[in-house]
Amino acid sequence: MPISFEHVSYIYSKNTPYEYAALKDVNLKITEGKITAIIGMTGSGKSTLVQHLNALLLPEEGTIEILDRTITAGTKPKQLKSLRKNVGLVFQFPEYQLFEETVLKDTAFGPKNFGVSEPEAILKAKQALQQVGIPETCYEKSPLELSGGQKRRVAIAGILAMDPSVLVLDEPTAGLDPSGTASMMKLFSRLNKELNKTVLIVTHDMEQVFRYCDEVVVVENGSIRTHMGVKEFFRDSSLCREMNILPPAVIRMRDMLNENGFAIDPSISDISALARAAAKQVKKHG
Ligand SMILES: Nc1ncnc2c1ncn2[C@@H]1O[C@H](COP(=O)(O)OP(=O)(O)O)[C@@H](O)[C@H]1O
Ligand SMILES: [Mg+2]
Repeated sequence: MPISFEHVSYIYSKNTPYEYAALKDVNLKITEGKITAIIGMTGSGKSTLVQHLNALLLPEEGTIEILDRTITAGTKPKQLKSLRKNVGLVFQFPEYQLFEETVLKDTAFGPKNFGVSEPEAILKAKQALQQVGIPETCYEKSPLELSGGQKRRVAIAGILAMDPSVLVLDEPTAGLDPSGTASMMKLFSRLNKELNKTVLIVTHDMEQVFRYCDEVVVVENGSIRTHMGVKEFFRDSSLCREMNILPPAVIRMRDMLNENGFAIDPSISDISALARAAAKQVKKHG
């Protein structure tokens, strides 16, 4: 069953002079088992949107369907705890929320909080830390002793330890260096492909969207501007240009070549395929 938003609106600071409609009549269906990128300008409503997925924010109007449950405006959601266990939400800069004395304790906090016994919580924490590539030598360290990238991994491990079936990540690679970004994206891809987790990633990084995501949702001014397959989205970059989105480098290069007389297939998917296609045409005409 897809995750769906139907006519969802959300208003911050309702009935105050600061009232602000952050989501307006959002209709959206997210395919389970895929990696979906949520993109859009800062302030467009991406974080507000994803915080509805585990009922951290409740809709002012409309309904959200997720994992066999329905969240309806104006009613108190039931079994909130199991929803929060099954829909793991990783906030932007989650490393600021590490608070336990040791890395292992911090990671085990989630499963323990959701009723798992202490030894099992520790086991799940160790598995999750291994998944994110934190070495055992760090388990007894204070989270404060870790590097920025490691802290972020530990924070993500804390969510993975609960074994959610839907993983929602709000700008998980913001501020990471290119190798940190790549290994983080590979991790999400693995969780999707090997453990069949539905992954939603809020991001500004089109290189990562192009490379790792299946679908893309563009949020604009509190509404869904477009939702389509990633390949289709980058096939014709006039859409990106119109929305002020810088396409991935390989797509820009393809467009430049085509503007200069080449006829490269628009579905080209990586830099080596692009190079081969260009070389073939040079040989043919040169
Ligand atoms: N707690 C809040 N109170 C009032 N307005 C908010 C709050 N959080 C976000 N907003 C406003 O709602 C809009 C959408 O915010 P957000 O969902 O955080 O956007 P994004 O994640 O796309 O940058 C922005 O204009 C933002 O200023
Ligand atoms: Mg945000």
